[in-house]
Amino acid sequence: MCGIIGYIGPKARNIVIDGLYKLEYRGYDSAGIAEYNPNTKSYEIFKETGRVKDLKKTIKDNYETTLAIGHTRWATHGEVNKVNSHPHISSNKRFIIVHNGIIENYKRIKYEYLKNYSFYSKTDSEVIVNLIEYFSSTYSVIDSIRKAMTILEGTYAFLIIDALDNETIYFAKKQSPLLIGLDDKGAILSSDLLSFVGVCDNYYSISDNTLGYIKGKELKLLDLLGNDIKPKFKKINIKEEDINKGSFNHYMLKEIYETPYVIRNLISKYFDNDDIVLQDELVKVLKESSKIYIVASGTSYNAGLIGKYYFEKFGHKEVSIHFASELMYDDIYIKPGSIFLMLSQSGETLDSINVINRYKGLFKIISITNQEESSLNRLSDFSLNLYAGREIAVASTKTYISEIIVSLILAMSICDNNKELKHELSNLAVAVDKVLLKAPICSEIAKEIYNSPYLFYIGRGLDYYVALEASLKLKEVSYVFSQAYPSGELKHGPIALIDDKTPVIALITSEATNAITRVNLKEAKTRNAKTIVVSTETFAHDNDVLVLPNVVGYLSPVTLAIAVQLIAYYTAKEKNCDIDKPKNLAKCVTVA
Ligand code: F6R
Repeated sequence: MCGIIGYIGPKARNIVIDGLYKLEYRGYDSAGIAEYNPNTKSYEIFKETGRVKDLKKTIKDNYETTLAIGHTRWATHGEVNKVNSHPHISSNKRFIIVHNGIIENYKRIKYEYLKNYSFYSKTDSEVIVNLIEYFSSTYSVIDSIRKAMTILEGTYAFLIIDALDNETIYFAKKQSPLLIGLDDKGAILSSDLLSFVGVCDNYYSISDNTLGYIKGKELKLLDLLGNDIKPKFKKINIKEEDINKGSFNHYMLKEIYETPYVIRNLISKYFDNDDIVLQDELVKVLKESSKIYIVASGTSYNAGLIGKYYFEKFGHKEVSIHFASELMYDDIYIKPGSIFLMLSQSGETLDSINVINRYKGLFKIISITNQEESSLNRLSDFSLNLYAGREIAVASTKTYISEIIVSLILAMSICDNNKELKHELSNLAVAVDKVLLKAPICSEIAKEIYNSPYLFYIGRGLDYYVALEASLKLKEVSYVFSQAYPSGELKHGPIALIDDKTPVIALITSEATNAITRVNLKEAKTRNAKTIVVSTETFAHDNDVLVLPNVVGYLSPVTLAIAVQLIAYYTAKEKNCDIDKPKNLAKCVTVA
């Protein structure tokens, strides 16, 4: 989940550093850059723990450079320190690498090929660069990379430079994203299109098991057999204004505020008049399926719980939901004729990719992601777009909402009675606008809870599913421990933890559960808990702290989710947390 970038052309250092800022969402433990110094006619390497801004301060910039590669790290092998940060250099100092991915057999490679080498870091990446050096005594650089690729097991996208050559960046890719852009000014390689914005307006997404190089403006792309690959470049449709914070202090807040736009965008993409528009073949596969297995992680899993409800209620389907990281190792019976529905904002979550690789060919796979060019989409039989626009804050907000809505559209596509959906979604967008006006109340709730060592979110049914996401969001960005409980379960154990310092936040948006959830809340209040109710207009009682506008019952998770996302945001703000880049996290989880 690290980010890599390389540039050949004028102002290479600035482009690589700016690109690293844009890649920081992929990991932000440490950062580094290698660049050609024309004065000394050699490569200089700078590394720093912490953020790209810390790295920037360490760079000597008394020369112009036309070739640089950079890296921003999320540590997997080896702790966070300068030695383990990238770029890494081979033993004889000829090759320098930046790598994203994980080499699974790095210990065996050390033993089988590199017995005489000594290693200064604990990273698997240092093994790659030395393996290439090892082969370079017999083969050309490109053939050495190819030889190495036949030995490396795991995932990788890497850029390599050769100290004997000041105009070439070599690269290789398997399962980790790598894109290339070329124009009159120069050539860029990066893990993400974000770093192309303002640099180059075309891109080609490099396929797995591809290697090659850029030498000046010459691009060579090869498969593992040495055959030439002809790239088809596409136009980039991201604009600078799509990826800046505008007038907001944090991306997380900006992205929560973008939700009404996302809902309207989904309506325009998935409806023609009042009819749902989806590929006929996809709807057929869904209709004919005997069971749906929803597979996801984290926030996407929480959206999947609501999706499960929709497929059962509207699609009349048998559905089970699984954490991708569990399903990979579960030895369960999968019903013949089942389909898999993969939910993932990034489309790059390795746990999900592993599940697809396990079941591909045996069952049809549908992916729902926010990245058209993602690995999940490429591996699936069908893919649907979340159309949420770029989400830069590490915590998912608008993509969670979009996952709920796209699941609903899909479930409704196999239901005869779906003509009201578009209308209800339009109402929803208006209701979300109104929830956003209640941000000051969410900020007041945050002031009540930010000092608590832990708290409970409770609810039943759909409200419980949102409580799970509310708790995840709160932990993630504010580091306040929160546990979600079905409200009736509180008395079966966790009530032992409740005292006058424990906030219990009840989510109530349905008639069926209104009275009983309030009874459970009362049980907590009797034990002196600080109780807070978030409800909707129809079900509100006098002392409810936050009352949300009404929407049709099955869409209440959306308005509720906006409220709990805002509560998490303001709690993190009270605590002065680094909201967009929470501790130890990364936006794209490409480790299993
Ligand atoms: C939480 C969050 C994570 C992701 C999880 C799965 O805000 O973003 O819990 O939901 O890592 O990621 P995707 O959806 O990219 O598969």
